Amino acid sequence: MKFTSIQEAMNKGSGKVSMRGWVHRERGSNKLKFIVLRDSSNIIQCVVKKDKFSEEKYAEADKLQVEASLEIHGTIKEDKRAPTGYEVEVDDFQIVGACDSFPIKADQNREFMDDNRHLTLRTRRMTAIMKIRSTYVQARDEFYRKKGFFRFDAPILQPSQSEGGSTLFEVKYYDKKTYLSQSWQLYAESAIFALEKIYDMGPTFRAEKSKTSRHLSEFWMAEMEAAWWDLHQVSEFAKEEIRYCIKKVVEERSDDLKTLEQDPEKLRKVVEKDWPTIKYRDALQMLKEKDKMEVEFGKDLRTIEEEKLAKHYDTPVVVTHYPVVAMAFYKPRDQDFPEEALCFDMLSPTGVEIVGGSQRSLDIEDMKERLVEAGEDPSSLEWYFDLRRYGSVPHSGYGVGIERVLTWICGLDSVKDAIPFPRTPLRYKP
Ligand code: 4AD
Ligand code: MG
Repeated sequence: MKFTSIQEAMNKGSGKVSMRGWVHRERGSNKLKFIVLRDSSNIIQCVVKKDKFSEEKYAEADKLQVEASLEIHGTIKEDKRAPTGYEVEVDDFQIVGACDSFPIKADQNREFMDDNRHLTLRTRRMTAIMKIRSTYVQARDEFYRKKGFFRFDAPILQPSQSEGGSTLFEVKYYDKKTYLSQSWQLYAESAIFALEKIYDMGPTFRAEKSKTSRHLSEFWMAEMEAAWWDLHQVSEFAKEEIRYCIKKVVEERSDDLKTLEQDPEKLRKVVEKDWPTIKYRDALQMLKEKDKMEVEFGKDLRTIEEEKLAKHYDTPVVVTHYPVVAMAFYKPRDQDFPEEALCFDMLSPTGVEIVGGSQRSLDIEDMKERLVEAGEDPSSLEWYFDLRRYGSVPHSGYGVGIERVLTWICGLDSVKDAIPFPRTPLRYKP
């Protein structure tokens, strides 16, 4: 018995087909039972006619409820009235897994939906998001292979911080303690001496105390690091990477974008435009002149300021040269403007930081001083300083928050829907 996917059956368009999937919708009368069958590829309307089956068999079909799984054999034909333009007249069917009253119904509250994430994943909405996520990530892999990068994996259990001790998750490690990775970067910096151009994507952990629509406690960061590259090169490359991936999503997942009420054409236009780069100082100026917002030099941009700034663009915007005092210890000083760091963030058109990156400092003493100022212990990073002692080279890299990019391109209210099983201060189940 050869089963085809629903999409393959519709591509065939006529004749005998065998498909398997789940009941997406059902309705019946005393003569007919309509079943909208769903699989990972699409949905299709199937009709069970009473006069073709024994009483018992028809009763089985009549009792079928939403989310029961079954195999269907029948004849497919075009039907303009059907939801996806085709209908299957059922010759035979077998119920594989019965389903009594599926708990997920329309208009349930957020909390209930999240408590039942293991079931809500099969909704059309979550399916569309997961497909877009898959396409995006696969496109990224393709991009890096084409560019001749090696994939390099770093440990998840790490002995110290990289992005500040206050957001570390502590893990018992036999009779000692370690922390869950905040970033792949410091390990990547040791690997560029062997591989030069590397990338990865992995689970990343931040004990973010604040509950916002842009922070997860566990998220997937897509990072890269390259020997010899400077800030300009790396920030332009970040634009190229993200455009490449979004272009693929537009090409391959336009139906899924539409399911999420996103216009693929609008995204295509964003990809085709130039994405500007401005300096933090210019951003402050713009906020002052256009938005009457005074931000003192030295402060990181807050959500409200990022949102205001992004409103002046219809594409992502790269902001460089943030103040050293507000930045991680490894972001180097600009030689000409020592208060400014050779670093960048990329903001989405919705005003959310989607990428953070920089050139890497080569100045051991400056890094140590800044760590001490931030209340960190530089001695735990002696291995990292070694990288500056033995054949050091200029290098740069960045990290993309995958869920944040998806939140933007899928038009989601919260980063929580861009990951199948979100982890936040208030949620670690199911
Ligand atoms: O700006 P961040 O903290 O940069 C780093 O960790 C660098 N070590 C990366 C590198 O240079 N290799 O994080 C990078 C990106 C942010 O721009 C944001 O998109 C995302 O990771 N991110 C989060 N996404 C969801 N929830 C959180 N709590 C996030 N924290 C950061
Ligand atoms: Mg950042």
